[in-house]
Amino acid sequence: MTKTAIIIGASRGIGLGLAQEFAGRGWQVVATARGAAPELEAAGAASAGKITIETVDIDHKDSVAALDSALGDTKFDLVFVNAGTYGPRHGSTDEVTPDEIAALMMTNAVAPIRTARTLLPRVADGGTIALMTSVLGSVALNTHGTMDLYRASKASLNTISRGFFVHDIGKRDITLLNLHPGWVKTAMGGDGADIDVATSVAGLATVVETRHGKAHRYLDYTGKELAW
Ligand SMILES: NC(=O)c1ccc[n+]([C@@H]2O[C@H](COP(=O)([O-])OP(=O)(O)OC[C@H]3O[C@@H](n4cnc5c(N)ncnc54)[C@H](OP(=O)(O)O)[C@@H]3O)[C@@H](O)[C@H]2O)c1
Repeated sequence: MTKTAIIIGASRGIGLGLAQEFAGRGWQVVATARGAAPELEAAGAASAGKITIETVDIDHKDSVAALDSALGDTKFDLVFVNAGTYGPRHGSTDEVTPDEIAALMMTNAVAPIRTARTLLPRVADGGTIALMTSVLGSVALNTHGTMDLYRASKASLNTISRGFFVHDIGKRDITLLNLHPGWVKTAMGGDGADIDVATSVAGLATVVETRHGKAHRYLDYTGKELAW
């Protein structure tokens, strides 16, 4: 049977690549954007119906509720919340304003879990919820410091996702994956990053397709287990 996925935050970068990768593997994909998304629209037009597009800004509960109702009775084998932001470029705890830190924590830590919770009833038994975190969210692997605000937002996502796994997923047969995509050449990762989008999303899709089982795992795009 055809597998179904929803990729949240697919207008560009890794999210767009994920939509194309899963469609290329035969999945039926709903890909979301916040507004006009010409790259995603072109990918949808070229996908022979494998990619359809919906709208959501995960920061706003009413927007997530509108997405949920637009999805009708669609069920998914995969809900992938990819949307994220770097936050203020200065990355400094000395310089950050209350509005900047609130916006960063909302988009990277709180809103992904709220979105996953809203979509949880749509996840088929044996399915997967994937959250795009970062190796920078690991406390154990943080030997360098720097990028403190972004690190804190992804560490918070990691922490809150454990509560989601225990209390919301509970006894259901659903895999929860916190995934690090590698350091990827995108608007966020920059031109000097290690790998291109195609390499990252091919690895991530293989991880999703192969790492089943009722567990909450923190993995990179090669399937390597990361220390929390
Ligand atoms: N690139 C890397 O090296 C790297 C490394 C580790 C982790 N990550 C994580 O991977 C994910 C994708 O990163 P990327 O490099 O592809 O970044 P990107 O090119 O900046 O793309 C970010 C995506 O998230 C969407 N988004 C941001 N805020 C949103 C919101 N409130 N609601 C809905 N969508 C929202 C953006 O939509 P708009 O087009 O509307 O802005 C865009 O589609 C992020 O979670 C990022 O933290 C990236």
